[in-house]
Amino acid sequence: MEDNVYEFAKSIAKEAGQLLLEGLNKRMEISRKSGPTDLVTQFDHASQELIASRIREQYPGHSILAEEELTENNGSTQWIVDPIDGTNNYVYGYPLFSVSIAIEDQDEMKIGVVHTPILNETFSACKGQGAWLNGDQISVTQTENFKNSLLATGFPYDEKLVPEAIDLFSKLARKTLGIRRGGSAALDLSFLAAGRLDGFWELDLEPWDIAAGSLIVKEAGGKISDFQGNEHNIYKSRGIVASNGKIHGELISRLS
Ligand code: IPD
Ligand code: CA
Ligand code: CA
Repeated sequence: MEDNVYEFAKSIAKEAGQLLLEGLNKRMEISRKSGPTDLVTQFDHASQELIASRIREQYPGHSILAEEELTENNGSTQWIVDPIDGTNNYVYGYPLFSVSIAIEDQDEMKIGVVHTPILNETFSACKGQGAWLNGDQISVTQTENFKNSLLATGFPYDEKLVPEAIDLFSKLARKTLGIRRGGSAALDLSFLAAGRLDGFWELDLEPWDIAAGSLIVKEAGGKISDFQGNEHNIYKSRGIVASNGKIHGELISRLS
């Protein structure tokens, strides 16, 4: 893959983040997608179009898969983009939203970038080169005792899955230090990588929610699996379990 693509990915994530910050002061046009809680704004589309146009300009031979119905098949290097992860937060100006960009090459995740503009934090990883927050290397926690772990989760838009998500929340809340529901899966994973959480799970996520964050967790020394503890596949596995590695076994067993 091209040498400067990592820096380029970070720069377009920040450029899209700037667009989102400016959007917060403008009138939002809000519509609903799969259900009443699944919001999308004109800024999801604007952020996606900005990122896609930069990729097309710089890397015309690359493919793009982005959340707002954009699929361009050009070659074996694919950009996986969530133009706003945490749109419902964004609509309210609640600070936990992000731009998530990953690059997959020959079926392997090579680069992950999650930028959160209000906090001005850029989490990133390039396969084999560790995980970073702005200019500092990050790593997962060393927490071994499940009772002392701080976890995060999210709730699915699909109403049929909500009771199961609430059951798991209730079960785990009594066994840990606490559970956070931030509202951006990409940030949940990034916070785990930075040692701000010990674990994360969610029942039903899309490739763009987790492609970048999963690589960042792995490069920070953490573990990613499906609900059975098997290797996670961003296209096939709906559920994801992520942790510092040390509490992974217990997290999996308590989720089953
Ligand atoms: C959502 C966020 C949220 C998670 C949802 C996702 P979106 O993404 O990551 O934290 O709980 O499952 O769909 O719709 O804001 O891009
Ligand atoms: Ca998302
Ligand atoms: Ca989104």
